[in-house]
Amino acid sequence: MASVSVDEAMRRAIELAARGLGATSPNPVVGCVLLDAGGEVVGEGFHAYAGGPHAEIVALAQAGTRARGGTAVVTLEPCDHTGRTGPCSHALIAAGVSRVVIAVPDPNPVASGGAATLRAAGVQVALGVRTQEAEAGNVAWLTSMRRGWPYLIWKYAATLDGRSAAADGTSMWITSEAARIDVHALRGTVDAVLAGVGTVLTDDPRLTARNLRDGTLAIRQPLRVVVDSSGRTPADARVRDGAARTWIATAAEVGAGPDGRVDLAALLAELHHRGVRAALLEGGPTLAGAFLAAGLVDRIVGYVAPKLLGAGPAALLGAGVSTIADAIDLEITDVTRVGPDLRITALPRKREG
Ligand SMILES: NC(=O)c1ccc[n+]([C@@H]2O[C@H](COP(=O)([O-])OP(=O)(O)OC[C@H]3O[C@@H](n4cnc5c(N)ncnc54)[C@H](OP(=O)(O)O)[C@@H]3O)[C@@H](O)[C@H]2O)c1
Repeated sequence: MASVSVDEAMRRAIELAARGLGATSPNPVVGCVLLDAGGEVVGEGFHAYAGGPHAEIVALAQAGTRARGGTAVVTLEPCDHTGRTGPCSHALIAAGVSRVVIAVPDPNPVASGGAATLRAAGVQVALGVRTQEAEAGNVAWLTSMRRGWPYLIWKYAATLDGRSAAADGTSMWITSEAARIDVHALRGTVDAVLAGVGTVLTDDPRLTARNLRDGTLAIRQPLRVVVDSSGRTPADARVRDGAARTWIATAAEVGAGPDGRVDLAALLAELHHRGVRAALLEGGPTLAGAFLAAGLVDRIVGYVAPKLLGAGPAALLGAGVSTIADAIDLEITDVTRVGPDLRITALPRKREG
């Protein structure tokens, strides 16, 4: 096989890392490509699930003795601690790798230090190849580790005139089956799905990740979280059906904000503590408004249907905006057609002060 450049190997490692998305929490996604001394690819690996072998170990196992004198190209600094698996830094040293190229340093104080251990053992360490790309591939995990609460994606569905339900309250289905399939795929990439008790009382959603065609459940289910200050979730609500874990987060358990409702920052801190790194906020407009007003939303995914309703509730309520100067400015990062609908991805711009 022809030799490849370190840059090319890192591009491949980032691609490999993405295969673990949605399955590795509370761990990051990581990809690794091992090059032998001549620059030929002799091993590839990614971290497929929490508790499973790390990317470096998979790649080393493939490479065998050909790793000696070679270069390990990894998307994240190799770990330096013994958790459910041994330290990757030690495994790389034992395999005789002479150089390790890292895209992003590990922000996790428990696992970091791999680069220093490698250097101390005489392994050459280079940092910073395709860093932006690797950061983007791990954005939820890196963001949540750096600040201590989950990366929160607010997803909503609305008509072209911004309505989330009709005047009589009916809302199923605003968007197409294709868009709903897309949402189930999105649920499969997060660790928790959040909804307000208002949505549970009105729509009685299951909030599981399913195959919409035959109803089968995805192997890995996000934790279902109902934000329910006073515990109004009915005993027979579908979220209590046992198909996935459910947490009814009440103000008594989480703590209350000044309005007596669930303290949202405390809720996110508790979810982080429970190993949630990426969470999907699915509704409804009141809860979304409260999260946005508190500046706790990292990404917005809006499914916009080619329909007009002219009346009915808006997709967002009470986001703390009363005048145009206070509008929450967004940067649109992607627009994709999903069946007849549009999926718009946007990032809230950071506010001054
Ligand atoms: N189009 C869409 O994407 C979409 C998605 C979901 C829902 N919906 C629609 O939304 C409607 C329900 O709307 P909704 O606004 O009543 O539902 P919601 O936002 O799901 O729930 C609101 C409730 O959340 C609870 N909550 C707990 N802590 C809160 C906090 N800190 N801040 C704000 N709320 C908090 C409050 O009840 P307590 O104080 O009692 O806890 C509040 O009434 C339904 O018609 C549904 O179909 C649309």
